[in-house]
Amino acid sequence: MRYNFEEIVNRENTDSVKFDLRKVIFEKEDVIPMWVADMDFKTPDFIINAIKERTKHEVFGYSIRSKSYFDSIINWLDRRHNWKIESDWISFSPGIVPAINMAVLAFTNPGDNIIVQPPVYFPFFSAIQNNDRNQIENPLVLKDGRYCIDFDDLAIKLKDAKVLLLSNPHNPGGSVWTKEELQKMGELCADNNVLIFADEIHADLVFEGFKYTPIASISEEIADTTITFIAPSKTFNIAALATSSVIASNKEVKEKYDKVLDTIHVGMGNVFGTVASEAAYTYGDEWLSQLMEYLSDNLDYAENYIKTNIPEITLIRPEGTYLVWLDCSKLNLKGKDLKDFMIQDASLGFNDGRMFGTGGNGFMRMNIACPKQTLEKALVNLEKAVASIR
Ligand SMILES: Cc1ncc(COP(=O)(O)O)c(C=O)c1O
Repeated sequence: MRYNFEEIVNRENTDSVKFDLRKVIFEKEDVIPMWVADMDFKTPDFIINAIKERTKHEVFGYSIRSKSYFDSIINWLDRRHNWKIESDWISFSPGIVPAINMAVLAFTNPGDNIIVQPPVYFPFFSAIQNNDRNQIENPLVLKDGRYCIDFDDLAIKLKDAKVLLLSNPHNPGGSVWTKEELQKMGELCADNNVLIFADEIHADLVFEGFKYTPIASISEEIADTTITFIAPSKTFNIAALATSSVIASNKEVKEKYDKVLDTIHVGMGNVFGTVASEAAYTYGDEWLSQLMEYLSDNLDYAENYIKTNIPEITLIRPEGTYLVWLDCSKLNLKGKDLKDFMIQDASLGFNDGRMFGTGGNGFMRMNIACPKQTLEKALVNLEKAVASIR
């Protein structure tokens, strides 16, 4: 079966964050929304069918997650990523951001140092700051068009830290950390008794030529000090079904996390998220490979278009994720001026790079998980706006 990623689905007035909050976020209704990390594609049929099938029962009382749900996660991770996990390593969270916050509560105390690698997904900062923990930065370094880790700096920062909060693959830089990089990070953390919170939500969205490695799969020693967060939400565009997994092979680590989950009492989840997740992980391979082909074409298109027509902007080609980090520093607009330019002059709803912390000023994040037609319109808007200030 060929899936249709070209179809324009009208998402307006569907309570979509990306579309229906434009006025609130950008103070302008008609920006092309390329910000929030969800996709403008329909959720695949095998997921819709599983949800429809469950509605036929017509009773939606408190529910559990069955063996087949856990097996679908175990088999997916083994089949796709060669990571062999066991059922009793798997815990739950409605989302990855709540999971990170629960882990912060479970494993750290106010004032503890937590390391982030900016520019990075901004809810990492709030998970630290809102819980009165101390944010320590190990900024990434942009080398020959790829974001890399400054290991010397990391080794220093780890001496006095409790946790490394990792984005693998990295949002917004797009680096899919190699096994060697992860091993080095993992060993440094283990040597310093530092726990790794591995946000691996973008694990499945990796372009040809690159390989995602779950950091916990590298060695028992690293697995022992790692808690991993994964979900079908980005991969299959089902974020609103609020179903994610938290994986820890270390029994003590899992028990500590579960204690917070039970205290807050959000472990129940929702029955539609459960059936959707199981269907995604059971039947999703073919759809995902077609999605990645489509996203790869979009990425090629955007990269070539920008290179040819908008030389003032540099697209940092991501190795994974559908989020593209644009270096706009040669426009000589920074901060609010760059943000206003994108909204007012180009009618584009991007994420302002400054949200991602150190190293983000002068950058914009563009979401390319949309039909090609939308991307084309956005790039024309961008080209015209840049031409007007040349
Ligand atoms: C790195 C990363 N972590 C977490 C999330 C969101 O997770 P959730 O919606 O499950 O809380 C995103 C969404 O963009 C993300 O990019």
